[in-house]
Amino acid sequence: MDASASRFVYLHESRRPRGYEPIYRSFEPSLYVPEIGAHGFLGPVHEGIPEAVASIKGKLMEGDQYKLYEAAFFARGAILEVGRLHGKSTAVLAMGLRDGTANRSGGPLYSVELNDKYEPIAAGNLRERGLLELVTLLRGDSATVIAQLPGRFDTVFIDGDHSYEGFTRDLRALEGRIEPGGVVMFHDCFHPQNESGEYGVARALAEREDSMGLAYRGRFGGMALYEQLGAPVPLRPR
Ligand SMILES: C[S@@+](CC[C@H](N)C(=O)[O-])C[C@H]1O[C@@H](n2cnc3c(N)ncnc32)[C@H](O)[C@@H]1O
Repeated sequence: MDASASRFVYLHESRRPRGYEPIYRSFEPSLYVPEIGAHGFLGPVHEGIPEAVASIKGKLMEGDQYKLYEAAFFARGAILEVGRLHGKSTAVLAMGLRDGTANRSGGPLYSVELNDKYEPIAAGNLRERGLLELVTLLRGDSATVIAQLPGRFDTVFIDGDHSYEGFTRDLRALEGRIEPGGVVMFHDCFHPQNESGEYGVARALAEREDSMGLAYRGRFGGMALYEQLGAPVPLRPR
């Protein structure tokens, strides 16, 4: 991919605000850079994200939340979330999508969850915040659901099955399905349970990131953030 077309433009160290590290900007610098220069956040909603979702049960760190919002804000196509639970990350992604959509072409936002019992809770949390209509709530095993969805994803957040086998199945389902230049965030990549083998996120990623054309761009909260490299290839018919 042409480096000048990348959305990953590293910003000067001194511009980093507290607790939040923006690492990329959009294609519309006139829209975005002045705000980054001023305070680092995209606006008051971005800065207030932790408070806006504080009452939703979940283990997302502030660094996760800021980056998820930013990624959805700058999405240029479909967003995929795997692992919704009570909808904390879903709400953050939906807010970013809502606030960025006027200037970009982000969406739809697909959210996949295996366990049916969480759906009413997540839907309630999204409805309460006026976000429910922005999200396509999907039930089922992520690898199976991903295979049934159309096209490619521009922005991906994976926080579902953390076992080596389950996470590898998600990675395989995503192969060739992420837009070049797309953003992929993997939760719990730095969790100590990767050491004990209880989580297989770090191991599976280390094995597949090169062959998938994923380039590591940094740690945000508990997430490893990657950029999808490469030129678009035709999608396999499904
Ligand atoms: C750590 S939680 C997700 C937390 C959520 N992202 C948040 O912000 O609070 C992991 C979720 O993934 C779901 N999950 C596990 N295996 C899955 C699979 N194969 N497909 C879809 N969801 C799965 C679990 O039911 C659980 O709700």
